[in-house]
Amino acid sequence: MHIPDLLARISAEVADEVGKGSAADYIPALARVDTARFGMAVAELDGTVHGTGEWRQRFSVQSVSKVFTLALALAQPGGDEVWDRVGREPSGDPFNSLVQLEHEDGIPRNPFINSGALVVTDELAARGSDVTEELLSFLRKESGSPGIAVDEEVADSEAANADRNRALAYFMASYGNMRMPVPDVLAQYVRQCSIAMNCAELALSGLFLARHGVRNDGSRLLERSQAKRVNAVMLTCGTYDAAGQFAYRVGLPGKSGVSGAILAVVPGRCTVCVWSPGLDARGNSVAGVAALDRFTTLTGWSVF
Ligand code: DON
Repeated sequence: MHIPDLLARISAEVADEVGKGSAADYIPALARVDTARFGMAVAELDGTVHGTGEWRQRFSVQSVSKVFTLALALAQPGGDEVWDRVGREPSGDPFNSLVQLEHEDGIPRNPFINSGALVVTDELAARGSDVTEELLSFLRKESGSPGIAVDEEVADSEAANADRNRALAYFMASYGNMRMPVPDVLAQYVRQCSIAMNCAELALSGLFLARHGVRNDGSRLLERSQAKRVNAVMLTCGTYDAAGQFAYRVGLPGKSGVSGAILAVVPGRCTVCVWSPGLDARGNSVAGVAALDRFTTLTGWSVF
């Protein structure tokens, strides 16, 4: 498979999808973005990256950060204990929904919806970590880009519009499922979502999941079975209440964010990151899902 030709073909084939959908409107700094943009990168296991379109354009990673914070939490000694505080089932509800928490003792369905990610951030913070700094350090090393940083404009915009996430965190605190003060956890969560990266950087940073837990320097972040589990939860829960549709169309572990990014993993082969800010009603990138659909169809690289 000649990946540069493949990417050029996919880019041409999804051109009609680019610009469809709408940018996330609940965070002003995201709402301003032009939806007619598209970038895609593939990172091979040896760190070779191929790209098309705006694959070097940075955007805030938003919920794609949830994959990395989960991996960092699991990598701690006793890290699997995080599963006592967060489940592993698809929610079938929007990513910022409150409803299940009341019936389920304040335990979020999975780590890839906002409530679950708040718990993961809390878990890391309670273990003494400056979560955003730890995350930045990991992402800079894996991508080889020391300049990766928080987009302060997005962070401010998001912090000023965080009432839903604040409500989720306080609600979980009322069930005893928050260890650190909610304002601290919320501040960390917002900054993680606001980290700015491009498709190449995200694809490189996710390669440990294609390498069964092994980082770019050859050291191990996760045990093989832990990496398998993160990929499994990405497949079943990584695209909110459209995870079934994503598995059907794409057939890969994937995690989306409301900036229009999706990071997908082909275990044992590569990672793919696509970015296009036009979102469907569930909050997933219209052109991004279409591009990944074409990618797995043309290559046959799927977990199925
Ligand atoms: O929590 C938020 O509202 C955003 N910072 C991230 C949302 C997102 O990408 C979808 N979340 N699962």
